[in-house]
Amino acid sequence: MRATLSSVRIPARDEGVSGRRARSVQAAVAMSFAALLAAGGTGAAEPIHPVPEAIELDRDKVALGRDLFHEPRLSKDGSVSCASCHDLARGGSDGRRVSIGIEGRLGVVNSPTVFNAVFNFKQFWDGRANTVEDQIDGPVQSPIEMGSIWSEVVAKLYEHDSYPRRFDAIYPDGINRKTIKESLGAFVRSLITPNSRFDQWLNGDEEALTAEEKHGYALFKGYGCVSCHQGVNVGGNMFQVFGVLNEYFKKRGNITEADFGRFNVTGNPADRHAFKVPSLRMAALTAPYFHDGSAATLRDAVDVMFEFQLGRKAPDEDKDAIVAFIKTLAGESEEMQP
Ligand code: HEC
Ligand code: HEC
Repeated sequence: MRATLSSVRIPARDEGVSGRRARSVQAAVAMSFAALLAAGGTGAAEPIHPVPEAIELDRDKVALGRDLFHEPRLSKDGSVSCASCHDLARGGSDGRRVSIGIEGRLGVVNSPTVFNAVFNFKQFWDGRANTVEDQIDGPVQSPIEMGSIWSEVVAKLYEHDSYPRRFDAIYPDGINRKTIKESLGAFVRSLITPNSRFDQWLNGDEEALTAEEKHGYALFKGYGCVSCHQGVNVGGNMFQVFGVLNEYFKKRGNITEADFGRFNVTGNPADRHAFKVPSLRMAALTAPYFHDGSAATLRDAVDVMFEFQLGRKAPDEDKDAIVAFIKTLAGESEEMQP
C-alpha cells in the first residue's frame, strides 16, 4: 500500500476564486482526487509512471548523434552546439533565464531539458514541433540560436575527416538534412533517466523515499498538481494556460510575443498564454524555471504554481515537502557524467 491520501491534510480552499475557468480547473482537480481515492492509492493506479529502463534505438545512429549534439560546426560561426544550451552535466539545460546563441544573442525563452524530451507529446513550450527530429530545424536555423542554413552545415560536415565515412556507413545517401536530423534525434531519444528514487518507490521499494518525500507526493496529488503534471514525465502531455486562476502576466508585466504560448501556433483565443505543461522529471537540476525563466528556485516555482495554477495558499511545510518530492524524480543517465 502506498502513502494513503487519508493521511494528507489539505487546508480548506481560499475564498475568492471565481470564474468559469477556475471552476473547470477545480472540477478537474476534484475529479482526479476522487479517482485517486477510488483507486486507493495503489501502485498500478498511480498517476505517475516509471521511466522505462531503455528504449530500442540504433547504436550507431545514437553514437553519431552524440557527436553531432556536441558539434559546434552546426552553428554559423562554429561557436555554439546543442550542448551549449542543453548541458547534459547540468540536467540538460543551461542554467540561464534565457539561452544565449551565436554572437551572444539572447533567446526569448528558457531552455527546457532535453532529458526525457522523447516522452513529451509535443516539443517546445508552445508545442509547435511534433517530434524531437522535427524540432531540430528550429535551433539550427534560428538567427538567435545557431544561425545556420542546412546546405552550409552539410558542406561543413563533408569537410570533416570522419563524419563522411561514419554517415556513409549508416546511410546510403550520406550526409544531408534528413540524416543529420535522424541521428541527432536518435541521440536525443536515448536521453532518458530511469531508476529515480521515486521510480524505485513506484516499483515497490518502500525504503526508496523518506517520510517527507512520500508526504510531498501525497500533497502533490491532494492539492491537484497532478491534474496537470502526470504520466511518465510528470508533465509533457497537455497544454494549460499559465495563470489559470490568477493573471500571471498582468502581475509580471512586460508581455512579450513568446508569452502568448500556444496561441502563436493556433491563433485560437482559448490558447492565449497556454504552454505545454513541462516535465518535472529533471526539475531538481534545471533552475531557473518557467518559459520566462522567472523563478530562481524550485521553491519559488512551487509558490507561483500555488498562486496562479491552483489559486490557493498552503503552509510552508507542505511546499517544502512537495519540493522534496520533486527532487526524487530525477533519474540516472550515463550522459550526465561530465
Ligand atoms: C541557443 C540555445 C539553444 C541551442 C543551440 C539549442 N537549443 Fe534546444 N532549446 C533551446 C530553447 C530556448 C528551447 C525552447 C524553445 C521554445 O520552446 O520555443 C529548446 C528546445 C529544445 C527541445 C524541446 C524540449 C521540450 O521539452 O520542448 C529539444 C528536444 C531541443 N531543444 C534539442 C536541441 C538540439 C538537438 C539542438 C541542436 C541541434 C538544440 N536543441 C540546440 C535552446 C537551444
Ligand atoms: C492547471 C495546470 C497546472 C497545475 C494545477 C500545476 N501546474 Fe505546474 N505548470 C503548469 C504549466 C502550464 C507550467 C509552465 C508555465 C510556463 O512556464 O509558462 C508549469 C510549470 C511548473 C514548474 C516549472 C517547471 C520548469 O521546468 O520550468 C514547476 C516546478 C511546477 N509547475 C510545479 C507544480 C506544482 C508543485 C504544482 C502544485 C502545487 C503545480 N505545478 C500545479 C501547469 C500546472
